[in-house]
Formats: sequence, C-alpha cells, structure tokens
Amino acid sequence: MSAETLLTGRLVDFTANPFEVPRADAVTVEDHGGLLLRDGHIAARGTADDLARAHPQARRIDYGAGLILPGFVDAHVHYPQTGIIASWGKRLIDWLNTYTFPEEARFSDPAHAKEIANRYLDLTLAHGTTTVASYCTIHPGSVDAIMTAAQARGQRIVAGKTCMDRNAPDDLRDTAQSAYDDSAALLARWHGVDRLSYAITPRFSPTSSPEQLEAMGALWAAHPDCLMQTHLSEQLDEIEWVRGLFPSARDYLDTYEAHGLLGRNGLYGHAIHLEPRERDRLREVGAALVHCPTSNTFIGSGLFDMAGLMAAGHRIGLATDTGGGSSFSMLRTMAAAYEVGQLTGTALHPAELLWLATAGSAQALGMGDLIGTLAVGSEADVTVLDLASTPAIAQRADRAEDLWEAVFPTLMMGDDRAIRDVWVAGRRVA
Ligand code: GUN
Ligand code: ZN
Repeated sequence: MSAETLLTGRLVDFTANPFEVPRADAVTVEDHGGLLLRDGHIAARGTADDLARAHPQARRIDYGAGLILPGFVDAHVHYPQTGIIASWGKRLIDWLNTYTFPEEARFSDPAHAKEIANRYLDLTLAHGTTTVASYCTIHPGSVDAIMTAAQARGQRIVAGKTCMDRNAPDDLRDTAQSAYDDSAALLARWHGVDRLSYAITPRFSPTSSPEQLEAMGALWAAHPDCLMQTHLSEQLDEIEWVRGLFPSARDYLDTYEAHGLLGRNGLYGHAIHLEPRERDRLREVGAALVHCPTSNTFIGSGLFDMAGLMAAGHRIGLATDTGGGSSFSMLRTMAAAYEVGQLTGTALHPAELLWLATAGSAQALGMGDLIGTLAVGSEADVTVLDLASTPAIAQRADRAEDLWEAVFPTLMMGDDRAIRDVWVAGRRVA
C-alpha cells in the first residue's frame, strides 16, 4: 500500500461561488477536519477522529487551529520579472521599456532563465502558491526553464512563450512565423506532460502585428483545449495606442476577436477599462478575466469592477501580475483586492477573497476539478495558514468572534510568515 498522510486541522474550501450563492451554501468549514493524501491526490476527507480511526497507519500531521486550504492559484504572472519587482516610478509603457524589456532580454541566456525560474517557484511556494499561469519571454528556453523547474517540484503550472513582433527592442522580437513555429514546438514538447500545460501567449496587441495575432489565432484553433493568455485594457494610454495601431477595430477586444483570439479558454489580464460591447462579448463567450490588484495600484492602472462584472456573470480569477504587481503573495493580493473593492464601493467578504485565490482562479484556468479545492479526488495541493503569524495579527485574531473575523487580519496583514506548510501533489515542499 502506498504511503498515506493525514492532515488534521480546520478545513476550509468552496463548493460554489460565494459571489453567486449565499455564503453558507458556498463554503465548507470543518473545524476538526481531516484530509487523507495518497498518490498525490486527496483520497478521503472527514472529521479528524473518523479519518484517524479509519486510517491508523497514515502519518498524521496535526495543525490544530491552523487553516487547511487549497494551495493558492495565481492566474497571471510574469516569472521573468522576478528580478525587477518593485521598480520605481513608471506607468505601463515606460515601465515596460525601462525595466521589463531589458530584463526579459537577459533570458536569451538559459542559465539566467534557469536561475530565475527556480528562484521564482521557491518564492511563490514559500508564499503558499502552488499553481501559476506565467508568461515567459520570447525565448523558447524561458519556457523550458519554468516547465523543467515546475516538473521537478511536481507542480501544476501553465506557461507560454511571450510573442512580440513589433514595438519591442530588436533582441526581443520574433516574427509571425517564428512565433507560430516556436509556440507549436513548445506546445508539443510540454502540453499535457505530467502536470504541465502550455498557454498560447501573444503579449498584447501593441506588440503583435495583425499577422502575428492571426498566426496565434490559427495555432489556438488547432489546439482549442489550450489556454490563451494576453492583456486587455489595462491603462488608458495603452488603449489609445491600440486605437491608433488598429484603426478599423471596434475596440481593444476586437483586435483579439478579429484574429481568432477570443474564446472560453482565453485569459484576459487586467480588463479594467472595458466598453459595454467588450463586457458583453467576454461574458457571452465565457472568457476569464484576471484581476491583478497590486499591479493596478502599483502601476497606476485603475480600478477593476469586481462587483459589476461578477453580478453580470463573468468568470474571474485573481493574480499577482509579478513583477508589475508588487508582491509574490496571494495574501497581499487579497488585501489589495479588498482595498480596490472599497474604492469601488464594495467590501469583499473574506470568503469571496479566499474563493478568488483558490477555486476562482482554478476555474478561470479551467482546472476547477483538479486544483483550488479539497474535494476527494482532486490533486493534493494544500496550503496551511497560521492565523496568528505576527503579534499584530495575533492580537486582532484573538478578539475574533467567528471564523471570518479570525481569517481577515491574516488576509489583510499576512505574508509568507503566515504560511505554515505547503503540500504539492501530496508532498510537503515548504
Ligand atoms: N502589458 C503588456 N505586457 C505587460 C506586462 O509585462 N505587465 C503588465 N502589467 N502589463 C503588460
Ligand atoms: Zn501581465
């Protein structure tokens, strides 16, 4: 019989979206709960006592008051920007030209790509994030580096070669044809291997010619089960630029739609300044929007309309957008989502924030039955939170009268010190 591990503590996960159904019907809380991990999956779930009786041979790890959650899922990151996170003073286009592109050019060196890929995954695991959807650089080796690093850790990951054939430095441009060929080769090499998924990745309309967008659309049509990730309507200057580059497009989304790059497996990062037609089309096709709140405040992009978009029935995930985002932590990201919510007139409930960082992002990636949940049969990616990780948090949590009041100080003030343990495919990693 294969080794079994029994985790006991306070289980929290979701059976439905708490933005859509009453909270009590969406959340499952088991105060003295147990999770049995076997063969990389969650094999059983119940009360700690029942599971301990039924599986006396399992190695037991008791987290007491610790919160046992699905591992966090970060639905939009740029792992190559790890080294330039927290760079001062620029807005999107200047930030890309000043900080991002010079750093991404360094990924022509496979040794640099390998070093940053491993550093990035170590950092994110230490922050409780077990799956990310990452942009790479134009260099195929940057995809090999993150896929190899994730594979070695047993992680589920989504990644793709970032395609750009204009409005980028000479050493960061591919062509429509080479982007197609390189992406197709990487997809064949990595997609569906172990827990790895390839995402077709045109960076955004300003850095792709219509021919390149067309080529990416053709590749997606040939592999419709793949995710396609890109950026949409992040800053007003960017939208103006897109208008000038694509004079016949109805709006920014139309630059994707006209080239076969709008679909349910599309992930559209930021999606802040949307026109009514864009909102309608994104909802009609069931595309996923990805909210990146620390990035949106850090680069000064604007305020995502979480309440309005959720009420309209959009699929939405949550992300750090490292390194435009100012943190590797989904806890810091939940705090920023709360603050952006307040600035738009809605106080997001801690259950809604936790849903976004787990099941919501997993569903945005089309992986809601695999990760982002503690359901029996799902993959055993688990993050355990300490709800009293600093004196400031502990003294506030001490006064809590219910679970959510105990959780909220950690969402607002927590960081990697709040991550007590992390399990990936049933193995403890951090
Ligand atoms: N738009 C196009 N590329 C990027 C990027 O790397 N970061 C952010 N935040 N927005 C982008
Ligand atoms: Zn981004």
